[in-house]
Amino acid sequence: MTVNAPARTLLELSAVRAAYDGITVLHGVDLTVGAGRIVALLGPNGAGKTTVLKVAAGLHPPSGGRLRLGGRDVTGVLPGDLARAGVCLIPEGRGVFPNLSVRDNLWMMTFTGRTRDQVEDAAYSRFPVLAGRRTQLAGTLSGGEQQMLALARGLGTDPAVLLLDELSMGLAPLVVADLYERVADIAREGVAVLVVEQFATAVLKIADHAAVLARGRVPWQGRPDGSLRAELSAHYLGSAS
Ligand SMILES: Nc1ncnc2c1ncn2[C@@H]1O[C@H](COP(=O)(O)OP(=O)(O)OP(=O)(O)O)[C@@H](O)[C@H]1O
Ligand SMILES: [Mg+2]
Repeated sequence: MTVNAPARTLLELSAVRAAYDGITVLHGVDLTVGAGRIVALLGPNGAGKTTVLKVAAGLHPPSGGRLRLGGRDVTGVLPGDLARAGVCLIPEGRGVFPNLSVRDNLWMMTFTGRTRDQVEDAAYSRFPVLAGRRTQLAGTLSGGEQQMLALARGLGTDPAVLLLDELSMGLAPLVVADLYERVADIAREGVAVLVVEQFATAVLKIADHAAVLARGRVPWQGRPDGSLRAELSAHYLGSAS
């Protein structure tokens, strides 16, 4: 097992600042995610979690700081180029086309050069439940199945870095636990995973490292443990005051 070996850093945000319409919402965020590692970014509503992912995917330009991919400075690189370099964002609310079948959603990933069969086989071997639903419209899948399809589509690009925004949104705890087991499998294949969640419990079972984001700053990061719980409750309760 190489679990405790130092992981090669794939994604690095250093002193990242970001603003919308001149209003700064990230005030200097430092985060690194190594190959095969899962980092959980946790924080209350409006803390800036989605903005961190947008910066990491090149969808929102940082107003300060640096973004690095595999040690290379990619600050300001366009989202399409970052995607080709191996960054995959699965946005909140599931990245599937609801009016297309499961199969058509997967076939769209043939732009990566794989055949339809290859894309489908990879998806169904990872998520067998999708095989029985290949002709069903994606919008009629259960929430958990839609997330599986979104993950399968994302993995169709063979990403080095996977960015997940609120995977658990609206799903039952058992479904979430199962999805996170699949995410742990993906990390074991060497992918660097950055997971954003508002409510921490499920993701902490698989996370190697956690960071708390509150009002655009990271007041705490480290191994998930009791001090993280204390930090989180302070920020969730504190955000109301
Ligand atoms: N497109 C936008 N234009 C203006 N302000 C924005 C935009 N997107 C986000 N913001 C603001 O930036 C701040 C951070 O938003 P962000 O979506 O990153 O938070 P979040 O932590 O993902 O929240 P949530 O848990 O609700 O998803 C919020 O104050 C939000 O209102
Ligand atoms: Mg968000």
